[in-house]
Amino acid sequence: MPTSRIYWRLHSLQQHFKSEASLPLNLAMATGSKLFLSLFLQLLSILFLFNPTNAQGLKIGFYEKSCPKVELIVKNVAADTMSKAPSLAGALLRMFFHDCFVRGCDGSILLDSPTNQSEKDAFPNLSLRGYQIIDRAKAEIEKECPGVVSCSDILALIARDIVAARNGPSWEVETGRRDGNVSIITDAFQNLPGPGFNISQLITRFQQKGLSVKDLAVLSAGHTLGVSHCFSFSNRLYNFTGKGINNDADPTLDPNYVAKLKVKCKPADTTTIVEMDPGSFSTFDNDYYKLVTKRRGLFQSDATLLDNAETKAYVELHAIQKESFFQDFGVSMVKMGRIGVLTGIQGEIRKVCSKVN
Ligand SMILES: *[C@@H]1O[C@H](CO)[C@@H](O)[C@H](O)[C@H]1NC(C)=O
Ligand SMILES: *[C@@H]1O[C@H](CO)[C@@H](O)[C@H](O)[C@H]1NC(C)=O
Ligand SMILES: *[C@@H]1O[C@H](CO)[C@@H](O)[C@H](O)[C@H]1NC(C)=O
Ligand SMILES: *[C@@H]1O[C@H](CO)[C@@H](O)[C@H](O)[C@H]1NC(C)=O
Ligand SMILES: *[C@@H]1O[C@H](CO)[C@@H](O)[C@H](O)[C@H]1NC(C)=O
Repeated sequence: MPTSRIYWRLHSLQQHFKSEASLPLNLAMATGSKLFLSLFLQLLSILFLFNPTNAQGLKIGFYEKSCPKVELIVKNVAADTMSKAPSLAGALLRMFFHDCFVRGCDGSILLDSPTNQSEKDAFPNLSLRGYQIIDRAKAEIEKECPGVVSCSDILALIARDIVAARNGPSWEVETGRRDGNVSIITDAFQNLPGPGFNISQLITRFQQKGLSVKDLAVLSAGHTLGVSHCFSFSNRLYNFTGKGINNDADPTLDPNYVAKLKVKCKPADTTTIVEMDPGSFSTFDNDYYKLVTKRRGLFQSDATLLDNAETKAYVELHAIQKESFFQDFGVSMVKMGRIGVLTGIQGEIRKVCSKVN
C-alpha cells in the first residue's frame, strides 16, 4: 500500500477517535475507552513517524527525493564559514529572524533593490552581513539540483547549522518554503522589534507573528551570538531621560557596565561595535541569561525581560540551566520558521537569491 494511502487511512481513523480523545483523560477512562485511548496514542505516534506535512505545508525532509544532498551542502558551507569567519554567526542567525518577521520567512531579506529600497537597506551593514554565504550555498545547491531549493529554506537551514557549529543545539528544520518577490524597506521598520522596546511592545510584536511570551524569552537569547553598534544602546549610557545631562544612564543597567561601555562608545559614535555577550560572542550558550540577570543585557529590550513575571522566571531559571533552554530554542526556531510562509504553488524558487526570477 502506498504511504499516502496508509496515511489517509490513519488520518480517517484519527478523525474517528477525535471526539473520544478530546474528552478529559479521566472521563475517557471512566467511560471505558482506555483501549481506544491507547490505540489512539499509538496511531498518533505512527502518524508522527510518517512525518506528514504540517498545517503550513512544510515538512521535515521536504527535499529528500528532489535534492537529497541539500542539508549536507548547507551544513558544509556553514561549517566552513564558521571555521573562517566565526563572527558571522550572529549575523546569519539574525538574517533568518529578520526574514521571518518581515513578510514571513520568504527570503525577502535577500532581495536587492536597484534604488536601495528593499528590506536589507533598512539596516546598517553590520547587523546583517553574510549574504555572500547564502549566495555560495545557493550556487552549490543549484549545481546539484537546479531550480528546486528555495532561498528561504537555505536561510532556515543555515541558521540551524550555524548555531550547532557554535556549540549550540541542533534541531530538525522543516522545509518546503517558497520565495516571495516583494521586499520593501518600510516593512522592516514596521515589523521588527527595536532595541528600545519595552516588554509590552515586545510581547505584542511577537504575538502579531503567532509567537508566545515564552518564544520571546527563548529567542531573545539569540543575542548570545553577535555584535552591536554603539548607537543601538548609547541612549542608555548618556541621555536616557532625554535631558542630555551628565550621569543620565539607564538605572536598570549595571553602573560598572555603563562605565566600561562608555570607554568604548563615545556619544554620537556611529561606527564602533561591541560584543553583545562579551567574551563568548561567537559561542552559543546560556550566558545571555546570566548577563540579563546581572543587569548587563545590552539593549533595553534585553533588560525588560525582567519586567514580566513569565519572562523573568524563564531568564532566571535558564541562567543556571542550559539543557532545557537548548531544547526550547529548537522548538521556538521551528515555530518562527512557520511565520507567513509561501508553500505549494505560491511564490517561486529563485534562481539567484538576490533577484526575483
Ligand atoms: C545603493 O547602495 C550602494 C551601496 O551603499 C551604492 O553604491 C549605490 O549607489 C546605491 N544605489 C542607489 C540607486 O541609491
Ligand atoms: C557599509 O559598508 C561599506 C563598506 O564596508 C561602507 O563603506 C558603508 O559606509 C557601510 N554603510 C553603512 C550604512 O554602515
Ligand atoms: C511601553 O511603551 C509603550 C510605548 O512607548 C507605552 O505606551 C507603554 O506604557 C510601555 N509599557 C510599559 C510596561 O512600560
Ligand atoms: C538627549 O535626548 C533628547 C531627546 O531625545 C534630545 O533632544 C537631546 O538633543 C539629546 N541630548 C544630547 C546631548 O544628545
Ligand atoms: C510575484 O509572484 C506572484 C506569485 O506569487 C506573481 O503573481 C507575480 O507576477 C510576481 N511578480 C513579479 C514582479 O515577479
